[in-house]
Amino acid sequence: MSVYLDNAATSFPKPESVYQAVEYAMRQVGASPGRGGYQRSLEASRIMFRAREAVAGLFSIPDSSRIIFTHNATGALNLALHGTLLPGDHVITTSMEHNSLMRPLYSLRDAGLELTIVQAGPDGMVNPDDIHSALRPNTRMIAVSHVSNVCGAIQPIGRIAAICHEAGAMFLVDAAQSAGYLKIDVVSEGIDLLAAPGHKGLLGPPGTGLLYVAPHLRLKPILEGGTGTDSTSLEQPLTMPEGFETGTLNLPGIAGLKAGIDFILEKGIEALFQHERNLLEQAQSGLRPIPGLTIYGPEESSLRGSLLSFTITGVDSSLLAAELDQGFDIAVRAGLHCAPLAHDTLGTLPGGTLRLSPGWSTTSEEIAFFSDAVVQCARKINL
Ligand SMILES: Cc1ncc(COP(=O)(O)O)c(C=O)c1O
Repeated sequence: MSVYLDNAATSFPKPESVYQAVEYAMRQVGASPGRGGYQRSLEASRIMFRAREAVAGLFSIPDSSRIIFTHNATGALNLALHGTLLPGDHVITTSMEHNSLMRPLYSLRDAGLELTIVQAGPDGMVNPDDIHSALRPNTRMIAVSHVSNVCGAIQPIGRIAAICHEAGAMFLVDAAQSAGYLKIDVVSEGIDLLAAPGHKGLLGPPGTGLLYVAPHLRLKPILEGGTGTDSTSLEQPLTMPEGFETGTLNLPGIAGLKAGIDFILEKGIEALFQHERNLLEQAQSGLRPIPGLTIYGPEESSLRGSLLSFTITGVDSSLLAAELDQGFDIAVRAGLHCAPLAHDTLGTLPGGTLRLSPGWSTTSEEIAFFSDAVVQCARKINL
């Protein structure tokens, strides 16, 4: 048995329809969208449009032209931050953020941005009152991850959005671990900027991501070049979305992303999430007898996303992951999950945690195999 439990990094396998859509775009279409008047290019443009509409449908976005395709969540976060913020602006973020949000913020801070990092509790949950207390007259943005990639804590984004809008600031949500898992409605949840990977919960291929930009926001492009539009102008067009999708697009990836979203809508986002939740509950029961086991994140499992992070006293997480890989062909992520302040918050420095993240195709047998394997490995390492 070969078991993949690292869907929080990238989802695998993809639904069959995703592979077929990628192959169709590669073998049958082959052309670049918006770059020619011939049929292949027009079909490529139709694929792009349908994919944008699928994303809009999933997140209840009224106008699909407000969606920019990127190469991953990191690209979307960089565009959201570098494309809106100026020196002298104040941004509030949290200690639970991934480096893909934190590093661009730190680099903007070096250029004159004011940054406040609100400390989350030891369970990874952010208290919206602490965000409220951090507001300043020049607060222009509140930026938070919806679900922690380290411990799965689901943040109260509705309450944070209300604080943000009362202060007249932009609300940026890093949906890397929630897109495709939790229902997100950008309008009713007050999200101004939503950054999501296409290759995790949305079940698309690697090299896909997206940024939603609310209609009242104006972005500055961070990449300039060919857009297939306004070709006589030597200046970057600012039209949405083309002005922000410079260069040849990842058509096969975006075709696959559309198929991934269609799969999610067909199966039902709640049903898929419930499937993963059941598997995580099973894993938790299977691991519970292990002496020295600590599970991180909110105790209440309804406050946790589709991943489980744990440590075992006296057992190095990276060594355990290597044993699981080599002895059992089980793929899990170990160590620090690109979020050093989150590990500091949870008290899991320097060794980090072992994280399992099941997917739509993970079975109960695979989880039983995983739990048994952890028990055996922990015993072996402790001998
Ligand atoms: C919370 C969070 N934000 C951002 C990212 C970056 O995503 P990507 O690899 O698509 O750039 C990740 C990836 O693990 C993540 O978990």
